[in-house]
Amino acid sequence: MSHDDNPLDDPGADPFEIARTAAADLARLTGVDRHDIALTLGSGWGKAAELLGQTVATIPATEVTGFSRPALEGHVGTLRSILTPTGKRVLVIGARTHFYEGHGVRRVVHSVRTAAAAGATIMVLTNGAGGVNPSYTPGRPVLIRDHINLTAASPLEGATFVDLTDLYTPRLREIARTIDPTLDEGVYCQFRGPHYETPAEVRMAGIIGGDIVGMSTALEAIAAREAGMDVLGLSLITNLAAGIQTTPLSHDEVLEAGKAAEPVISRLLADVVEAL
Ligand code: HPA
Repeated sequence: MSHDDNPLDDPGADPFEIARTAAADLARLTGVDRHDIALTLGSGWGKAAELLGQTVATIPATEVTGFSRPALEGHVGTLRSILTPTGKRVLVIGARTHFYEGHGVRRVVHSVRTAAAAGATIMVLTNGAGGVNPSYTPGRPVLIRDHINLTAASPLEGATFVDLTDLYTPRLREIARTIDPTLDEGVYCQFRGPHYETPAEVRMAGIIGGDIVGMSTALEAIAAREAGMDVLGLSLITNLAAGIQTTPLSHDEVLEAGKAAEPVISRLLADVVEAL
């Protein structure tokens, strides 16, 4: 675990004010005052950034207030500002803090709040995930229709009541399906991790209505909606969830499936973002 000073760790600090400071850092370091769309890239989705348009600036996330040092050694998280052919400003977030890192929910959703403070009105969240729905196969992208938050946490603090009826914005899902009519829609279950689920937990996820299991996205989506953003979620099925596949799960397998699917799903993601 990294030991870094982070203003978000001060319980008396206002996370929204820190996000506004971060957005100002971002504007200064990228030279881009406002962004329209923010995109968090999960396992397998990394190549989309190159296909989106012209990279105006790439900065290490650690230069921006409140961003954490990456959990994985040797991996430097970046924030990238892209100008698309139709003139959209896209902020690509290649630095995700997971809930399982144990730094608290404020750090998990800081990139989303920073994107909102930078002007973004659409938050695109992508991830690699395990397939619970028996019709899913590794390498397949799935649109997130809804989620079940099994982390027992929330990014909302105090008596902040936010409606999540249409959390994954129907209009954006429709646009994604015009780009790829074969896209299925599924319910994403966020578990805390970092262990993979047991077969019994995966069975439970299926029984309560889940199609996909993973360790990100739901908390970020809630924070995005709190900030007034529209949300689009996409999962890459990197493996069948525990007990659905008979062999043990491994992180290498997840990464490899992500790499194999990367060219296809990155093209899809770039086309979807351009159509939003
Ligand atoms: N479970 C949870 N998270 C994951 C999985 C999984 O099977 N695959 C990739 N991320």
